[in-house]
Amino acid sequence: MGPGLAADRESEAKPLRFSGEYRERLLLGNGIPVAIRLVRPTDAALFVRGFERLSTGSRYHRFFGYKKALSPAEIRYFTECDGVNHFALGAVVERADGTEDGAGVARFVRLAGNPLAAEAAVTVVDAFQRYGLGRLLFDRLLCAAEERGVRELHSLVLAENKPMLALLRKLGPTVKHEIDAQFGARAVKFVVPAGLCTGKGRGRQIYSDRKNARS
Ligand SMILES: CC(C)(COP(=O)(O)OP(=O)(O)OC[C@H]1O[C@@H](n2cnc3c(N)ncnc32)[C@H](O)[C@@H]1OP(=O)(O)O)[C@@H](O)C(=O)NCCC(=O)NCCS
Repeated sequence: MGPGLAADRESEAKPLRFSGEYRERLLLGNGIPVAIRLVRPTDAALFVRGFERLSTGSRYHRFFGYKKALSPAEIRYFTECDGVNHFALGAVVERADGTEDGAGVARFVRLAGNPLAAEAAVTVVDAFQRYGLGRLLFDRLLCAAEERGVRELHSLVLAENKPMLALLRKLGPTVKHEIDAQFGARAVKFVVPAGLCTGKGRGRQIYSDRKNARS
């Protein structure tokens, strides 16, 4: 039995916390409540609007280059996740009329050659940065990875990207990093064990999951 099958069996054993019904509400450091939930195919408009509110610097850090807009194919890719090999969590601000505004997103994509590892990325809209959301999203991403049998998240970070370097280093001494073969000194590849997931965050938890969720 290959590692992929072992991972599948493991994740079949108990119900997933990070399923389509997962919704966790927290207060960020700026006092703004956000909800974290899985990204859905109907989130295209949130992605377009969220990208518009990303600074040039944040876009550069996320995409390793200057980017004016997301193409329709990229939006489809970012929103149509299978939840197993490609998994994404979005943080949204819920408006009174039931609509939402995107505040951040974290995703992993399982490596083709190693189903126990996945490539991860996190992005927080600039107006929400430095309030604990990036760390929160990355933590929940680790939890979701662990319950899907992914043992480690790999994250490629530009060497100039101080916020992300700091976020990952602060996760603890078991986070390994190395110079990336493709990018050389321009980027650092981090390997984060999924076991570092805490399920906690700096923001105060309002309530979490299906039992108390409004929707
Ligand atoms: C990297 C990023 C996700 C961090 O999100 P965030 O919500 O601002 O991060 P948090 O508030 O959770 O901060 C977590 C830690 O990151 C570090 N950090 C965050 N912003 C920082 C900054 N501007 N300068 C230095 N360290 C910073 C701090 O160590 C912080 O911990 P602390 O608050 O205890 O000091 C965000 O800056 C971002 O989206 N950047 C653009 C996209 C990107 O670079 N993605 C990573 C590509 S893989």
